[in-house]
Amino acid sequence: MPYSIGLQAATLAFLHAGFPTQFTIAIIAFLLIVYTISFFKDEEPDAPAKLPGSSLAAIHPFFRRRFDFLNWGFHATGTNMFQFQLLRNQVIVTSGEKAREAFFSARGLDLTEGFKILSGALPMLKGVTSDLQSRTRGSIYKRLAAVQRNGSLSDLIPAILEDSRRIMEGWGSFGSFDPFDRVYEVVFQTTVRSLTCSEIADDPVIVARLKVLYDRLDHGTTPATVLLPWFPSPALLKKLWATKEIYEIVTRAIDARERSGVWQNDTLQMLLDAKEERLVIVGFIMGLLIAGARATGTTASWLIMYLGIHQDWRAKAATEVDALLAAYPPPSATEPTPVQAQSLSSQLSHIPLEAWESSLPTLDAMIRETLRVAQPHAAMRRNLGPDMHMDGKRIPTGAYVVYPFADVHLDPEIYADPSKFDPTRPEETKVPFGYVGWGGGKTVCLGTRLAKLELKMVAALFLLGFKHSVQSESGAPPEPNWNDLHMARPPKGSFCVQYERTGVPL
Ligand code: HEM
Ligand SMILES: *[C@@H]1O[C@H](CO)[C@@H](O)[C@H](O)[C@H]1NC(C)=O
Ligand SMILES: *[C@@H]1O[C@H](CO)[C@@H](O)[C@H](O)[C@H]1NC(C)=O
Repeated sequence: MPYSIGLQAATLAFLHAGFPTQFTIAIIAFLLIVYTISFFKDEEPDAPAKLPGSSLAAIHPFFRRRFDFLNWGFHATGTNMFQFQLLRNQVIVTSGEKAREAFFSARGLDLTEGFKILSGALPMLKGVTSDLQSRTRGSIYKRLAAVQRNGSLSDLIPAILEDSRRIMEGWGSFGSFDPFDRVYEVVFQTTVRSLTCSEIADDPVIVARLKVLYDRLDHGTTPATVLLPWFPSPALLKKLWATKEIYEIVTRAIDARERSGVWQNDTLQMLLDAKEERLVIVGFIMGLLIAGARATGTTASWLIMYLGIHQDWRAKAATEVDALLAAYPPPSATEPTPVQAQSLSSQLSHIPLEAWESSLPTLDAMIRETLRVAQPHAAMRRNLGPDMHMDGKRIPTGAYVVYPFADVHLDPEIYADPSKFDPTRPEETKVPFGYVGWGGGKTVCLGTRLAKLELKMVAALFLLGFKHSVQSESGAPPEPNWNDLHMARPPKGSFCVQYERTGVPL
């Protein structure tokens, strides 16, 4: 039990009593002032420039309009590296080639510690998803690698296609949607399928509930919940409550499997068969689900968007998928029902993993370009090692370091006309870490293979099963909003995807 009964009761009381929010905010503001005033330090020659103005002023925009805030910081200090205070935490924002190289290769810079303070999106359960012993994290990552071995990944192909088919079937023969809701929903389901178990993935009600709970964690992240994690603000209690409910859904599924004793063909079974500790299994599911579903769902949404905006690319991508269908026809002898043999999802399931990975160059180039122009990520680390230098500036032990991906991905020196979506750009090889869509150096994405496979299968089914285009209020194609840290989502309602089924049964 990670929560005492007393805390649960207190949480409920808070949620239902309508605790006056203004009072809470007043207390938070007061604490912020006290903490900030208590921080003074002498200027050192190799210290990064400090932001002008009160350090309190940095807190809100850092969490709410990060892209604009970081750009303003570089502009206001006139340097390529500046620092500011988040309460007592020293945060150093870096840019430029030298700093980037140091950022991605430095041994002392730690990803999880940086993530914890500055993002707050993960459900923090001490020992389960946060403050992990490195042995536990090692086991989780080892199992994530196992899921992505050729055999296991191939086994997921029919299941991912069937999940996508079921949800897309529900879209009817024509209509319009916001991809950040509907495409995201498909990818959430396929990610749950890939990382959890049939008890959860087969139950649309539980999957929908999990999605609501994870969204609550993302959007419940207020500056207060990150900076004053001990302060029982209503936002924090809501997050705690959501985390607890996710934890219960996951443990209930594990218990059901263990009690039934029936072997199933899924990832949970792989974890159980490997005799992993309960802690590792729960941490695997809770932690990776959010890391995986959010990033993959966002990328899929933008990919469908760009496929709709650029009909020429859409046609090219569809032609490549068609060619694979022709190259790998269903083995007719083993296919009992002819109707099923013709359904798109069943046809696609006969394409082998290797072909998905190496014979769809257009989708590969589009995914790559999508991550360049529509991934609003700012990488964060904490210096757990000794003091170090980055581009001549000192990064003391304990300091947080931020590197916004926009610095390299939207640099006109590296990518001419950087905001233009252009999948024909050659792979960047001239500068160090010139492309970091999947991370780089010491921290690269450990779910890339699964993510790419999901993206391609969802895109393939949608491309051949539907025609689609993107409509927007202004007439101009929607553009990524880099200030939206989660999805780079343009204003709601300002655009939509219009779709129509082709004749082929999904
Ligand atoms: C399109 C989808 C995805 C994108 C664009 C993406 C991108 C990234 C990036 C850029 C990083 C490095 C972050 C940094 O340096 O601050 C990262 C790390 C990571 N990703 Fe992904 N990711 C995706 C999907 C997934 C999936 C599906 C999983 C798991 C199932 C996953 C698991 C991880 C893990 C565990 C790390 C941390 C690695 C470490 O601790 O060193 N990702 N990802
Ligand atoms: C697991 O399922 C996949 C298809 O979903 C199948 O190809 C594979 O043979 C199954 N494995 C076992 C051991 O039943
Ligand atoms: C796994 O599949 C990839 C292609 O998708 C192939 O290059 C590689 O050799 C395979 N590995 C094994 C161990 O079969």
